[in-house]
Amino acid sequence: MEVVRSIATMQRLASNWRRRGVRVGLVPTMGFLHPGHLSLVKRARKLAGPRGQVVVSIYVNPTQFGPREDFSRYPRDLSRDLRLCRAEKVDVVFAPKDRDMYPSNGAGPFTSYVVEESLSAAMEGASRPTHFRGVTTVVAKLFNIVHPTFAVFGAKDYQQAAIVKRMVRDLNFPLGIAVAPICREPDGLAMSSRNRFLKGDLRMQATVLRRSIEKVHAALRRASRPLPAAKLKREVKDMVKKASGARLDYVEFFESNTLEPVRNVVRGTHMALAVFFGKTRLIDNSRL
Ligand code: PAJ
Repeated sequence: MEVVRSIATMQRLASNWRRRGVRVGLVPTMGFLHPGHLSLVKRARKLAGPRGQVVVSIYVNPTQFGPREDFSRYPRDLSRDLRLCRAEKVDVVFAPKDRDMYPSNGAGPFTSYVVEESLSAAMEGASRPTHFRGVTTVVAKLFNIVHPTFAVFGAKDYQQAAIVKRMVRDLNFPLGIAVAPICREPDGLAMSSRNRFLKGDLRMQATVLRRSIEKVHAALRRASRPLPAAKLKREVKDMVKKASGARLDYVEFFESNTLEPVRNVVRGTHMALAVFFGKTRLIDNSRL
């Protein structure tokens, strides 16, 4: 496995592959890898085929964190990540440095961003106003550096995957996007690098994310007609309130493809929510 820190080296590797017609799968991550990330790597390996190359990028992207968010305390452990990638037979780990990704030098500061203007407005975008601008910018940069044939994203960040697909279509990036299902802990909590912040009771409280989705599922199964989203939102809010230490940020019901909010929830409607557990903010989602 090769560990590449330099953008120029990564681009050289990528153009060699391209000249030789090698399939390249990219899995963008912010590191502190867990089995959810590794499931994306496995998917990439399968899609790339035996002669393909799998690249995992590990980069805690500063521009997708708000000024009061957890950029500095976001967990990092590159040597552990490299061990896990080696065990997964990753071909290249690309781990660039901040000063190379966001240069500010004699040629001036970094001032070019990629912005998706519609799908980014609600949910995560409403709570974290500059978040998706950071995500689309860094993902566009990674696509330009690695030139993948396809990239794999997780359904855990459902809105992010939708926005990346939209960006790829709108800006004609010549690659495919695959979305892999959410990996969960045995008690249903979606795996996340931030779960390590859940100390004491908070870890147990965090199961309310999944439990609230299941409660809505069950209500829908029982109901013979659509259920009003407003009523379900109140029920989820109450349920979260009962988990001490938890505070609902948002819960939304929307159309899977367009992310358009619905007034009436039916089977196939998508549900997403974000909840604070102490200072830690976690998200989950599911098709109902
Ligand atoms: P990160 O949170 O590290 O996640 C990297 C990828 O792993 C994302 O596509 C995410 O959806 C996926 N993932 C995380 N937890 C998962 C789980 N439990 N099951 C399945 N997939 C999971 O998302 C980012 O980083 C960044 O925004 C990034 C795209 C790398 C841009 O900086």
